[in-house]
Amino acid sequence: MKEKLEKLKQEILNNLNKAKSLDVFRELEIKYLGRKGELTKILKGIASLSVEEKKTLGKLANEVKMELQAKFRQAKEAVEGGASGKEFVDATLPAGEKIKKGRLHPITQVQNELEDLFVSMGFMVLDGPELESDYYNFEALNIPAHHPARDMQDTFYIAKETGEETKSPIGDLVSGVSREASDLVMRTHTSPVQIRAMQKYGAPFRGVAPGRVFRSENPDANHDHTFYQLEGLMVDKHISISNLTAVLKEMLSGILKQEVELRLRPGYFPFVEPGFEIDVSCTICNGPGCPSCKHGGWLEMLGAGLVHPNVLRAGGIDPKKYSGFAFGIGIDRLAMMKYGIDDIRLFNSGDLRFLEQF
Ligand code: DAH
Repeated sequence: MKEKLEKLKQEILNNLNKAKSLDVFRELEIKYLGRKGELTKILKGIASLSVEEKKTLGKLANEVKMELQAKFRQAKEAVEGGASGKEFVDATLPAGEKIKKGRLHPITQVQNELEDLFVSMGFMVLDGPELESDYYNFEALNIPAHHPARDMQDTFYIAKETGEETKSPIGDLVSGVSREASDLVMRTHTSPVQIRAMQKYGAPFRGVAPGRVFRSENPDANHDHTFYQLEGLMVDKHISISNLTAVLKEMLSGILKQEVELRLRPGYFPFVEPGFEIDVSCTICNGPGCPSCKHGGWLEMLGAGLVHPNVLRAGGIDPKKYSGFAFGIGIDRLAMMKYGIDDIRLFNSGDLRFLEQF
């Protein structure tokens, strides 16, 4: 009997060591410890033994039973992940999917850099509406309705609310609506923020306004219907062109990460007088000429000038007391130059192969 017991104990332990799943444990439990289990049978048989045998064998049988029950518990816990479930790592699970890190759009990155540069020069950063009134987008900037400069900045006009026809609170977006019938336009430039800023903050003032602008444009590698600009405005006593060039040089050298030279050419913008087209020395060849600057040594960069008296007046500022400079730069162009991008349409393409490079 004793030997039988020892043999059974060994057999159970062997089976326990081999068992890997809960199902197998359950089977073993029933086979040995269940109501009709083999160990249970032996324990029942003890009843028919002599008192002396009962004493020694009964004790031993109970010890074996308890030991086996403990072993069952341990083995089960190991498979289930421990009593607390903490230490168990299931190495057989498939590897988790790596979460991809997001990144900022290259235009946003350049815009953020520009904002930091201007904040370091004491400029405030402003926002303006993308859906702008005809007044702020043109009229207040010295571009009256009949002005030919409007042709260069054709845009999306918003139909006036006409009773039942229009359900949207801002009217339906339609192109081809006659300008006379329209109060609202998708802003063609960030310049209207100049007027809003002067009206709100008065003089002296220093600020930049980055943002999205829209034009009715046939898209090609250098033109898109939706793009980004950064407007700059500084109004104070005795502001001159040297203030303008100093600030622009600081900005362009900062963003292009190298010292640059500026070239001012006369340019016409109704809201400045005098007005300039400003070029920057080619960042690739630094002057002598290369394919990037079409062998001229200069890259056309932005429009700027001294704020027209009519514009100061529209902003509520007395042009006899104050003067100012203003500029408008295309953030897309700047990003293209900085990163060597050859097609502006890539920015709005949503193509991850392009975007993941920044
Ligand atoms: N608003 C002009 C454009 O979009 C750019 C510009 C030119 C802005 C001269 C200015 C400026 O502030 O002074 O073409």
